Amino acid sequence: MPTERFTFPANFLWGTATAAHQVEGNNVNSDYWLLEHTAGSPYVEPSGDACDQYHYYADDIAMLARLGFNSYRFSIEWARVEPEPGHFSRAVLDHYRRVLACCHENKITPVVTFHHFTSPRWVAGDGGWNDKKTAALFARYCERAAAHLGDLIGVACTINEANLGAYLYLLGVLPPRLDPAQLPWLADAARRIGADPNRFAPYLMCDQMKARDTMLEAHRLSFAALKSSRGNFPVGITLALGDLQAVPGGEERRDRMKAECQDIFYEAARDDDFIGVQTYTRDRISADGALRPEPGVETTMMHYEFWPEALEATIRQASAVAKVPIIVTESGIGTDKDDRRIEYVRRALAGVANCLRDGIDVRGYFYWSLLDNFEWNSGYRPTFGLVAVDRETQNRSMKPSAKWLGDIARANATAVPIDHT
Ligand code: GCO
Repeated sequence: MPTERFTFPANFLWGTATAAHQVEGNNVNSDYWLLEHTAGSPYVEPSGDACDQYHYYADDIAMLARLGFNSYRFSIEWARVEPEPGHFSRAVLDHYRRVLACCHENKITPVVTFHHFTSPRWVAGDGGWNDKKTAALFARYCERAAAHLGDLIGVACTINEANLGAYLYLLGVLPPRLDPAQLPWLADAARRIGADPNRFAPYLMCDQMKARDTMLEAHRLSFAALKSSRGNFPVGITLALGDLQAVPGGEERRDRMKAECQDIFYEAARDDDFIGVQTYTRDRISADGALRPEPGVETTMMHYEFWPEALEATIRQASAVAKVPIIVTESGIGTDKDDRRIEYVRRALAGVANCLRDGIDVRGYFYWSLLDNFEWNSGYRPTFGLVAVDRETQNRSMKPSAKWLGDIARANATAVPIDHT
């Protein structure tokens, strides 16, 4: 296919993304750590030391800069910052100040996520995401953290994939409610922290539609808190956005899904500074829910269809409804074949270029992930990283894709198929 060199806009953010729980290690006060250590839970292994980024952050940030990237998206951990209700750790906030300062020393714009799935145990044990009051608790934590860190933050994401529970439920992957009365492991986890099982609700292990509404409220309150804090940085929410494609008969379900777990968030984001688009694949929707990929098609280690074209579609949809700038806060692939990673990102970037050519305001592209890391209940098996990690020694080794994408980032340009519109 004929190609041309496409230059991205000046100041385009080129980064990689991670989340505290998936890379820092020993997030022992979080609800997910508790679940990982409860017999019978869906977690195949505990996160343990992860990539020990709590200690190796300076090496990782310097490596990113050396590769050619100009930005890093990571999360700060609520369970560390506020270990008990109303007790904020100055030492932990100072740690994150050092991480942010290190980004600036390396000319890396820090993109900070305030909630990436995990919460303190005490939050989950007291109503968690089923309870609207969690929204105000979350906003208070954001306010305190931003008072300490705001002058160093480049871009803020309030909540990561605030729509994910609703999305997985409407896809037919999760039940409407994970009920501790019916799931002994969930009730056991609650009891281990002295919580009433009926009030135990970690994100995704809760009532998905209630959690969606709590998340919407938490975003609204934390947006206001961050905007009035020290510093002056763009604030937005990030969303899990599959490209929803109806097969015949699935149109109604697809439209309901769009309305309930995409459009409602786009509309809520109309006064935000951006939307974070996070897209991995397409979802083919029948009247009964999502269909598995057709036999014989290429799939990833997450068993998703290899479908990098989904990103262009979701950027277009988010931008059309929300009418705010877009940052691709996650795009990536779990694969042990690094050449397929390069092919995936090459095609995803061609989609971003098509959007930019059409005048859509896309401000950045973040590959998920910098490191092979803890992929939630799948454990360490799926490898998303540009960089492999030996979890005994914590040695990092770059894959060819790291250099390939870093070179594109440094050049702020890449070859894309010639536009024939
Ligand atoms: C999510 C998260 C990441 C995942 C990534 C790969 O979307 O689930 O933001 O934490 O690790 O998407 O599955």
